[in-house]
Amino acid sequence: MTFSSQPAVWQGAQPLCCIERRQETADAATFVFRPLQPLAVSYQPGQFLLLTVDIDGQPHSRAYSLCSSPSRSADLAVTVKRVANGLVSNWLLDHFHAGDTLTAQHPTGAFFLPADYSSAKILLCSAGSGITPMMSMARWLLDNKHPTEIFFLYSARHADDIIFRDELMTMAATHPQFKLFLILDTVTNAFPCYQGFLNPALFQALVPDLTDCHNFMCGPSVYMDAVEQMLQNRGFPMANSHKESFAPATPLTAETSDSNQQFRLDVPGFGASSDISNQQTVLEALESLQLPIIGACRSGICGSCKCKVISGSVEDISTQPGPLTEEDKLQGYILACSSRANSDLELEL
Ligand SMILES: Cc1cc2nc3c(=O)[nH]c(=O)nc-3n(C[C@H](O)[C@H](O)[C@H](O)COP(=O)(O)OP(=O)(O)OC[C@H]3O[C@@H](n4cnc5c(N)ncnc54)[C@H](O)[C@@H]3O)c2cc1C
Ligand code: FES
Repeated sequence: MTFSSQPAVWQGAQPLCCIERRQETADAATFVFRPLQPLAVSYQPGQFLLLTVDIDGQPHSRAYSLCSSPSRSADLAVTVKRVANGLVSNWLLDHFHAGDTLTAQHPTGAFFLPADYSSAKILLCSAGSGITPMMSMARWLLDNKHPTEIFFLYSARHADDIIFRDELMTMAATHPQFKLFLILDTVTNAFPCYQGFLNPALFQALVPDLTDCHNFMCGPSVYMDAVEQMLQNRGFPMANSHKESFAPATPLTAETSDSNQQFRLDVPGFGASSDISNQQTVLEALESLQLPIIGACRSGICGSCKCKVISGSVEDISTQPGPLTEEDKLQGYILACSSRANSDLELEL
């Protein structure tokens, strides 16, 4: 008999134990996870974890960007911020502690800092909980002694709302290449910061030269729209601007002006079938069949609802570039939340 010391490949949902919980601000906490069994963990700074928790006996899944950096340890950290009436985020903050377990899919996501990033500068713009993927990227760049100049712009309401405040201050004090700009609704005398919203004049003053630079940003859609506008006005090549949205402006529904058409939906792997209308998303139809499909963002962002069309065709109703690669699409993969049936469908989950 042989024993392998290799960690297992991370397939499907795996149990993670919370080994530490840190309060970051009054309404945000970091949870550090370690797999219950040795697992091969790999991810790129900026990617997210799809966590599933049981609340009142029902599984609920949500995406959370990793704020940890693969340069530090195999432990995985996410920082969760309270959301008004939010189910999962508030449950985690109110009920989840060190020693508790949940399940997670392998880290994934198309928003990440490439390992071969080679531009002279990088702009990391975030607001609120959008700081989490930026922190992963900044930690990774500094840990790897990457020579790029980092312009880290973060907007928050108040000094007490700055997530990772102490670490950011230390990074700025110890790494001259790390330019930290805190933009607060209410200024403080305790440390240098700017008041108000990020605006074109302030942006120009903070980052006067945008040559040889990529922009990564994450925050509320109004914030990211404003940053995009400022970049465009300065002639920034927008192909070098990358964004992650945590909250969809409007979740996708399949409502259409087309007349209601009924098709047949078959999922042979689960022996399940039903009617499917072109007025509903494929995700809604699969959920009605109580099949194990995860719709974490319901807006074509997270990729949790990826499934494969074996036969038939769907209409893609996504409103933004999603996580599917061209190769995925060629192989027949779709996002169930962003698709509606155009014909009878046979799917593989
Ligand atoms: C790729 C990705 C990465 C993410 N990373 C993080 C992260 O690092 N930290 C973090 O705290 N959250 C993150 N989120 C958001 C998180 O997945 C949840 O969507 C969010 O916390 C709300 O879920 P909920 O169950 O608490 O609220 P729900 O019960 O799903 O929603 C309650 C209400 O809040 C609104 N809402 C949903 N999401 C948000 C939001 N983000 N901000 C404000 N209002 C919202 C909904 O429209 C709804 O009205 C990420 C989302 C995605 C897609
Ligand atoms: S549920 Fe997130 S992409 Fe479909």
